Amino acid sequence: MQVAIVYCSKHGATEKVVKLIGEKHNDNEVYFFNLLKGSAPEVKEFDRIIIGGPIYFGMIQNPIKDFCKQNARALLRKELGLFICCMLAEQQNELFENAFPEKLRLHSKANACFGWELNVGNLNFFEKLIVQKVANSHGGSHIDIPEIERFVNRMNSISNNHTVAH
Ligand SMILES: Cc1cc2nc3c(=O)[nH]c(=O)nc-3n(C[C@H](O)[C@H](O)[C@H](O)COP(=O)(O)O)c2cc1C
Repeated sequence: MQVAIVYCSKHGATEKVVKLIGEKHNDNEVYFFNLLKGSAPEVKEFDRIIIGGPIYFGMIQNPIKDFCKQNARALLRKELGLFICCMLAEQQNELFENAFPEKLRLHSKANACFGWELNVGNLNFFEKLIVQKVANSHGGSHIDIPEIERFVNRMNSISNNHTVAH
């Protein structure tokens, strides 16, 4: 099976997440497409497409939104998985709903929020202020590794699961 993982990552957390998703697809050919650095894949060339990215100021990045919009019909014919990375766990369902079109959310085999990570040393003054104010946090790693495992298991299962787990 040919797998495309389409994502954005500004500070590296989503990059880590997609590598872990890739590692768990051991018997498949996995290709990574960071839309902030390169071009998007041809959807028709893949069997499974996994799409995700981090939430900044309540939104997923525009390249992810545009990719979903431009390829909506083709994506509905593929095995699809969707995820976000976000720090506000209590808002994750709402953030997920805003991130992806309803048709894709209903079609996807697994939906997930994998938590977040921030190395505050890499943030500018403004970003640091936001993180401390909004999340009352000083950063660190809060990536939900067991949820990544469950996500890939759901992708490999026969039945569909449409809810964001937790
Ligand atoms: C400036 C800034 C704004 C953010 N805004 C939100 C937000 O609105 N909601 C949220 O849940 N997380 C927010 N986050 C947390 C990021 O989604 C999280 O740290 C994510 O893991 C970053 O992924 P990346 O390293 O792949 O870019 C924000 C982080 C920063 C630095």
